[in-house]
Amino acid sequence: MDIPTKDRKILVTQALPYANAPLHLGHILEAVQTDIWTRYQNLNDNECHFFCADDTHGTPVMLRAKELGVTPENLIADVYQKHLDTYKKYNINFANFHSTHSNENKDFSEFIYNKAKSKGLISKSIIKQLYDEEESMFLSDRFVKGACPKCNSEDQYGDNCSKCGATYDVLEIKNPISTITNSKPITKESEHIFFDLAKQEKLLSNFLNDANLQKPVKNKLKEWLNDDLKKWDISRDKPYFGFEIPGEKDKYFYVWVDAPIGYLASIKNWADSNKIDSDKLLSKDSSFEMYHFIGKDISYFHGLFWPALLDAGDFKLPNGIFVHGFLTINGEKMSKSKGTGIMANEFADICDPETLRYYFAAKLNDKVEDIDLNFEDYVQRINSDLVGKYLNIASRSATFISKNENKLSMNIDDKVVNNLANQKNKLINLYETRNYSKLVRLIMEMADEVNKYINDNTPWKKELHEANVVATTALNSFFILTIYLKPILPKLTDKVCKFLNQDINSFDDVDKKLKNDINAYKPLLNRLEPIIIPEEKPMNESNNINIDQFAMVDLRVAKVLDASEVDGADKLLKLDLDVGDIGKKSVFAGIKSAYKPENLKGKLVILVNNLEPRKMKFGLSEGMVLASSNDDGVYLISPDEGALPGMKVK
Ligand code: 2FM
Ligand code: ZN
Repeated sequence: MDIPTKDRKILVTQALPYANAPLHLGHILEAVQTDIWTRYQNLNDNECHFFCADDTHGTPVMLRAKELGVTPENLIADVYQKHLDTYKKYNINFANFHSTHSNENKDFSEFIYNKAKSKGLISKSIIKQLYDEEESMFLSDRFVKGACPKCNSEDQYGDNCSKCGATYDVLEIKNPISTITNSKPITKESEHIFFDLAKQEKLLSNFLNDANLQKPVKNKLKEWLNDDLKKWDISRDKPYFGFEIPGEKDKYFYVWVDAPIGYLASIKNWADSNKIDSDKLLSKDSSFEMYHFIGKDISYFHGLFWPALLDAGDFKLPNGIFVHGFLTINGEKMSKSKGTGIMANEFADICDPETLRYYFAAKLNDKVEDIDLNFEDYVQRINSDLVGKYLNIASRSATFISKNENKLSMNIDDKVVNNLANQKNKLINLYETRNYSKLVRLIMEMADEVNKYINDNTPWKKELHEANVVATTALNSFFILTIYLKPILPKLTDKVCKFLNQDINSFDDVDKKLKNDINAYKPLLNRLEPIIIPEEKPMNESNNINIDQFAMVDLRVAKVLDASEVDGADKLLKLDLDVGDIGKKSVFAGIKSAYKPENLKGKLVILVNNLEPRKMKFGLSEGMVLASSNDDGVYLISPDEGALPGMKVK
């Protein structure tokens, strides 16, 4: 077994999320996989930095901004903040989260393009495309629908048929329609700019041999490489939200050119603000290793286009690309109407994000296989592993120590503790090779052993002194398991460290013994309750509801009896309400940014009284109070003085 060495310097990235939508749980899967690896590297005495950015350019962002009536710049600024907030909830520890719409990225994109041009890798030719005259724009395949040229099925997308599986050129599709304006597009010519991938064939073939790639990924990339390498179309015509190509008029870089370059931009932006010379990080003779974590759908871009671009710019090539499969939820593709399209931000209010980190770790390995998040299995797993096995060691041991004023015994059973410490290198190897599921299994087996040790030694039947030896041995073992779990559960293990009066800086801390004093034990994680995600009912075309539908909403005047902060929630206040004849109700409201609890007492509010009660991790929310909000503030809706609690609002 090769033990990964120490003192390595490593740059790590995950795929850059598009700036036109909120993050879903698939994004979190990748972020967790990458974050665990980064944290592991640092705990193994390496220097590892994790970079990301928003992927801001392209047609979907441009159209989404138009639909919302804002500029693309405003849209991406708003999404940037939301993405960052969501990643923070899941404890994703970026060295830097930047944007592809940045000066660094513009400079790098132009630099690489100009270099490629001077190396003879750039050419131009005229192509034919479908053009939407109403919108005055060329249409990419995804914005065209029509009948399949092979089987005539209607309503098929521009490049493939979902009925017969045929793939075709968008110009072949019958009766094409622009999905943007529903108009009939014309065929129009335009000059495009191409990157000559075939000229980089030797470089790419060497790259595929040298880089750390999973076998099936390597094979697929080699297969593509051995096919005819087509010239890559790197330009798009206006209107396009992106960077203009230097020396050209109304031509923009295709989003997939400047998206991966965004990795370099994020690294440079961080290096500059930390007074580090970014050339030293990114040049061919860099002492840093670089790894990209990505989903399987974007292997081609990262395995072929990206190294070709990097080499054109004389930058260092990635040392490895780590590919994961897709996330399914309860065995199916994520879908809003089935209640599985849940956004990452909302999910964090339902379950403690640490528990999702743990579940993903328990499922992830070094394969390209899809991963299923099954809610029942998830709840069962957390309750049985984290609460029932791992934390159970602490809670049962603490009972005995508390009888001794929280002082540990001077003696311990070394054999038990050493057995666990001796597994260190095995665990390091599993982290290094991203075999997290195996490693989680191993840690839980160790937790079982420690629980068995407690059972076998029956401290409850022993004198305080002897019981303390057993409990102290168990707590030292618990500390070692905590070190092993730290990259996966950064927040929970921090709380454990506070309880044990310890800090963890390296895997070598497994050889440390606990100090004499610990703190009183408080439960560190609640058992998970069954997860119910509300289904989203499809709206009718106009989004209107009729009067009967409106009458189904039971709105009531309510008076705030008490308001309090909620432990562990940044945005929520708990409101205890008097709803007249209906009785008292408690709700959680996202109004903390705007209201002090003490100022709310006695205030009249409007309650949605018949909203299905919602189980949150902080308790049950029995309705919702109405408020208006935008980015700048939250304003509770209040009836005029004189309204009485319980009154109907119509
Ligand atoms: O597929 C995606 O979600 C892209 N936004 C990923 C870009 S990764 C990198 F190349 F920027
Ligand atoms: Zn067909």
